[in-house]
Amino acid sequence: MSVVKRDVKNPRLFECAWEVANKVGGIYTVIKTKVPVTVKEYGDRYCLIGPLSYKTAPMEVEAYEPTDPAMIDTLTAMRERGVKVLYGRWLIEGSPTVLLFDTSSQYHKLDEWKGDLWNLAGIPTPPNDHETNETIVFGYLVAWFLGEYTARNVEQAHIAHFHEWQAGLAIPLCRKRHIDVTTIFTTHATLLGRYLCAGSVDFYNNLQYFDVDHEAGKRGIYHRYCIERSATHCADVFTTVSHITAYEAEHLLKRTPDGVVPNGLNVVKFQAMHEFQNLHAQSKAKIDDFIRGHFYGHYDFDLSNTLYMFTAGRYEYRNKGVDMFIESLARTRMSIGLNGRLKEMGSTVTVVAFIIMPAATHSYTIEALKGQAVTKQLRDTVTEIQHRLGSRLFEHAARYSDGAGNLVPSISELLSEEDRVLLKRRIFALKRHSLPPVTTHNMADDASDPILNQIRRVELFNRPTDRVKIIFHPEFLSANNPILGLDYEEFVRGCHLGVFPSYYEPWGYTPAECTVMGIPSITTNLSGFGSFMQDLIEKPEEEGCYIVDRRMQSLEDSVRQLTDYMVNFTSKTRRQRINQRNRVERLSPLLDWKNLGIEYSKARQLALRRAYPESFAYDDEWDEEGDYFSGGFATSRGGGAGNSFSVPGTPTLRGVATPGDIGTLTEEMQGLTTSDYRGGQIWHGVMKPEDEEDGYPFPLVM
Ligand code: UDP
Ligand code: G6P
Ligand code: GLC
Repeated sequence: MSVVKRDVKNPRLFECAWEVANKVGGIYTVIKTKVPVTVKEYGDRYCLIGPLSYKTAPMEVEAYEPTDPAMIDTLTAMRERGVKVLYGRWLIEGSPTVLLFDTSSQYHKLDEWKGDLWNLAGIPTPPNDHETNETIVFGYLVAWFLGEYTARNVEQAHIAHFHEWQAGLAIPLCRKRHIDVTTIFTTHATLLGRYLCAGSVDFYNNLQYFDVDHEAGKRGIYHRYCIERSATHCADVFTTVSHITAYEAEHLLKRTPDGVVPNGLNVVKFQAMHEFQNLHAQSKAKIDDFIRGHFYGHYDFDLSNTLYMFTAGRYEYRNKGVDMFIESLARTRMSIGLNGRLKEMGSTVTVVAFIIMPAATHSYTIEALKGQAVTKQLRDTVTEIQHRLGSRLFEHAARYSDGAGNLVPSISELLSEEDRVLLKRRIFALKRHSLPPVTTHNMADDASDPILNQIRRVELFNRPTDRVKIIFHPEFLSANNPILGLDYEEFVRGCHLGVFPSYYEPWGYTPAECTVMGIPSITTNLSGFGSFMQDLIEKPEEEGCYIVDRRMQSLEDSVRQLTDYMVNFTSKTRRQRINQRNRVERLSPLLDWKNLGIEYSKARQLALRRAYPESFAYDDEWDEEGDYFSGGFATSRGGGAGNSFSVPGTPTLRGVATPGDIGTLTEEMQGLTTSDYRGGQIWHGVMKPEDEEDGYPFPLVM
């Protein structure tokens, strides 16, 4: 073995994911929100690696030239061989360095690399799977880069952290080529799990019995599964985002994760305590405007007595539990759903249920656009008339002379005949012969769209008699949209309740985001987030974090439980809703990267120890003299599992549990120190709030 000494105390960190500066779903959120704590810990030693998307990169990344000689030489060498790469700063909080590879610049090597992959790892690849082709080219480029860079920078130890199978192919390549880097693979789901759950399989009761190769083959994803599995097995450290996915990975990927690294968020605290409540009111007013337009001609309900519920995410009909949401809103075989229950109770509350899930569409429907247009015209006309009326009123009042004429004119004196006609025209334009549409867009496949079909089956048609109205918006939200023109965050803030009854959800950022914005939500004990909150809080539903049991009861009972939660929510007073938002928002520290980032730190420490055990043995000798982590040089990696070390324990928490209890990196981690963790303060904010007389708003499970 060579005796290159690498500094394990100041390692370089490369974090690689398909969603770096490239938004698809939750992994983008993981990476982006974690940047501030990682930059705090690693500074310029941190670099993110992703694919170069010409659609998003120009908006997200500012190019600049590296100053690190090893980086300059590596990029020059790769560019000389035709690799197109963008090096720069990702324009997000923390401004991390990013390295984005243009896969198309090396597609001519695809066949050669496919052959190599077969020879090296026995992984077959079919010709027309675009996603796999991208994965291969990207994986080979990343391994190429890491090989060149680590050969040039021999001072530092290098950690390469990969997320999800699409970024994971470089892991077996690094291993086979003996690249001097320690690797971590974090999976955010398993391919097979996602596919199996999307079908009608009793997944959780059969996890240990699936014939994985056969099931993957049957679904045409055997080659992808091989890539995922080889990344899992070749990584020095393997982690996932929740206990439920750890269990799934153990059975489907055949490796027990070394630990769980729960997903956090970059929690922003407002100066004024109740600012988020004001934001709720402001955003809700924007949704109100949309509703007036969408329901024109049928706007016969009271918006101050209307609740906005929503679900959102990638369109995975069964996995995301949209099927259960719609079922609970309307009638079902055994129960009458929220709509029926509200009618039965004689409730005056109206619920508008939004489904925000991108699907193939042609355009907005004419009806949806018309609704916004006619109400806008009405508003403009009313504003004009208001001005004219104001001038007349002023004129009238100014002409007052003692005893002459009436003091205050009637409205009919002030409203001119022209204004009256104009107003009537605008009001007549609101006449409508159809019901308000259940979707805002023309769907590419209207007849077989599962959401639309279920809405038709349960007959939620936005009738005047319905207490539950539904709007399916098959596109992610954006402030630039001509209708419902709000960013997702703004929309969430304006709603009253998020509903995410997922069946397959390794984590589930959507309810977590609701929590930090102070919006109550419903999730399930099959989602990583739901289980995480259930583990930490004794009665989560009292804190506005409702968890439907989809594990231990029948589907019908889960639907009923979800309906009950929604019915109970509609019976809350405004005061109670405001209180509940306060309580939910108080849970934010539990989801803050400042507190959860330490789990990533521990995974990195474990990776270094596994790759460079000699270096830590040396450290531990020093440690006996009380100077842990001083010095610290690794010899070139020898592989193998880490040793057990007598080092200080992880910092203990004030009040909750130790981060290790939550993240559970295995026994091997128990003795590990993260005392050098600089990502944030430990359990920042989870203390008795000063303004709260009765202490922390929920009992903590110890
Ligand atoms: N999201 C969004 N716009 C929308 C709806 C959702 O940006 O209109 C984001 C949301 O903020 C969340 C992500 O999409 O961060 C979904 O992540 P999640 O973990 O819930 O699910 P995934 O898609 O990763 O399975
Ligand atoms: C926030 C505002 C209040 C407003 C309330 C509406 O709390 O600070 O002024 O009354 O939102 O709450 P609601 O649950 O009815 O949308
Ligand atoms: C995956 C999962 C989702 C999770 C996200 C981030 O896409 O589907 O549940 O929140 O990754 O870990």
